[in-house]
Amino acid sequence: MTREAIKVFPSDGLRGEISVPGDKSISHRAVIMASIATGTSVISGFLEGEDNMRTVEAFRAMGVRMERPSPSELSIEGVGMHGLREPDDVLYAGNSGTTARLMAGLLAPQPFFSVITGDGSLRKRPMKRVVGPLSLMGASIAGRAGGEYLPIAINGNGLRGISYTTPVASAQLKSALLLAGLYAEGETVIEEPRRSRDHTERMLRLFGARLDSEGTRVTVRKTDELKARTVHIPGDISSAAFFIVGALVTPGSELVIKGVGLNPTRCGIIDILRKMGAAIDVLNATDDWEPSGDIRVRSSELRGVEIDGAELLPAIDEFPVLCVAASFARGSTTIRGAGELRVKESDRIAVMSEVLGNTGVETEELEDGIVIRGAGSGGRIEGGSVSSHGDHRIAMAMAVAGLWSRNGVEIEDPGCVDVSFPGFFDSLDRVASR
Ligand code: S3P
Repeated sequence: MTREAIKVFPSDGLRGEISVPGDKSISHRAVIMASIATGTSVISGFLEGEDNMRTVEAFRAMGVRMERPSPSELSIEGVGMHGLREPDDVLYAGNSGTTARLMAGLLAPQPFFSVITGDGSLRKRPMKRVVGPLSLMGASIAGRAGGEYLPIAINGNGLRGISYTTPVASAQLKSALLLAGLYAEGETVIEEPRRSRDHTERMLRLFGARLDSEGTRVTVRKTDELKARTVHIPGDISSAAFFIVGALVTPGSELVIKGVGLNPTRCGIIDILRKMGAAIDVLNATDDWEPSGDIRVRSSELRGVEIDGAELLPAIDEFPVLCVAASFARGSTTIRGAGELRVKESDRIAVMSEVLGNTGVETEELEDGIVIRGAGSGGRIEGGSVSSHGDHRIAMAMAVAGLWSRNGVEIEDPGCVDVSFPGFFDSLDRVASR
């Protein structure tokens, strides 16, 4: 994944129309559900990013056949809920927390042995939050540091449903338990402190599982069969967010991003940016199984705001680019209740504080958040050279920061953008006028 440093030069504005690749979270779930469904599912808009390919390869290793009938489609021959076979090697989740955690939930009840590992970043991320409740369901899982870190080894066996209150609002954790719950005797009830993204619930219903959700509680029952479906995946709002913020902070911008997923549990970035004064319109909204629409953005004078954990949750992956937006706002922005950001692909609080500092932005790191002092209306940031720390969202957020800097922003180790947005720099080049 090593690629030479890329420098993003200042722009006169982002203009025109663009689409972004399919949603990463939904793409993972589509592969998982289609693989254990009965029949052939066709998925359009599938994201061929590195994270999603880790999920694809894991299922191929367990005997699932997949083809690409056209460049934008993935066809998956489901093997049924009990048709996966023991992989003959370790399953490699790469950088993908979603692959590792959701697969742990799905593999715990399979009647075979499996091992999951990942790259250096993923091997530092907490797994006990998943391993703990799965063990309460009767799973037999061992891993480094008592199951806290990958690799984990799973001796698949029968599970029983439990009622479990999660210590953190995490869609990966909820989804792991829902997948295990499909196979567990009786009911599995999951209660979250706040409602995390609900793509798994929507996808399970689409494939015919029995599921109830009310507020922060979801209940799933043992399920005999999922049925293959034709699924269209909308563009990823987390990828669109880089273009939204780029257009907002670069004077002279007017950009339309087509076909973006607008699931309410994911749209926090739009609400937060509007609160900062952003001119964002949603056009052609559809209310499908996953809502979507076009997003029109015009450059706007942003103001600093206070953001708490509840507001941030539906924008959790947008923290890096939100910090960039705040760097151009009038006044200070304070983000709190964001402790989970310390255990993402990198420690995003520490890393954003460092890379913004490298480009002349004043920040203060808090234990569970950050304070950012903005450059003020129309003010540019200085620019400079930053490390991506191998984190795709840091690389893309800092690329956006370069668009309205005095000297440009150079990103070292930019290849990590392929994790969620292959072709990001070409897309940016296409809409950024100079
Ligand atoms: C994801 C859930 C979130 C998010 C991650 C994708 C998912 O992680 O940050 O990028 O697809 O379920 P957590 O569950 O750790 O909050």
